[in-house]
Amino acid sequence: MEHNFWHSKWQNNEIGFHEPTGNPFLVKYADVILNTSPALPPRIFVPLCGKTRDIAWLLSQQCQVIGAELSEIAIQQLFEELGVIPIIREFAHGKVYQKDTLTVFVGDIFTLTKNDIGPISAVYDRAALVALPEALRAQYTQHIVALTQCAPQLIVSFEYDQNAMPGPPFSVSEDTVTALYREHYKVECIEHSNLEGGLKGKVNANNLVFTLTPNKTLDRK
Ligand SMILES: C[S@@+](CC[C@H](N)C(=O)[O-])C[C@H]1O[C@@H](n2cnc3c(N)ncnc32)[C@H](O)[C@@H]1O
Repeated sequence: MEHNFWHSKWQNNEIGFHEPTGNPFLVKYADVILNTSPALPPRIFVPLCGKTRDIAWLLSQQCQVIGAELSEIAIQQLFEELGVIPIIREFAHGKVYQKDTLTVFVGDIFTLTKNDIGPISAVYDRAALVALPEALRAQYTQHIVALTQCAPQLIVSFEYDQNAMPGPPFSVSEDTVTALYREHYKVECIEHSNLEGGLKGKVNANNLVFTLTPNKTLDRK
């Protein structure tokens, strides 16, 4: 989507994707991303993070969290709702909001480099891949692989009849996730359940949750 699409969503507070109490699948399947490097606090990358309450939950689990988000409004609200005053600095392609174990890069995720975000132990993608139109998905997934040096992932997605409603969120099926990531990961669908009430109350949809396990272990230092 165009950046202006998302900026206008945040300016107009049209954020139906935001879950005020966080995502239950993160809590249900957190082991997948929390136990990747038992000796160290996990460093979890949350792409297209918005102001998700999942960040508060990850912080409560002693994770370090690195977020990436286009909208500064979202990140101002994220820190306000956490009750934390961030230190704000400029970086090459935007701003960085940081406090203790939370760092958020505000800008286009495609401008971030692996040196910006540092070593990552796992990726938590809720409504990130599904936010992007088909034309951007391969670019996004290759970028995530390069940015995180193929870190394990937990992906929360939706599947529905794309003819019944335009995205976002777009329908991203198991076949799509597998095709996008199979070169680097073993993709497993660990949850396939009905989305209660349908998507936006209009369209029958399924929740899909995936684990991505790297085909080979890279040195992510
Ligand atoms: C569907 S929302 C999901 C937000 C969050 N993951 C959640 O679960 O609430 C997608 C988010 O991606 C952000 N976004 C879209 N394109 C982006 C880009 N190129 N770089 C960084 N963030 C982007 C939008 O501003 C929006 O907050």
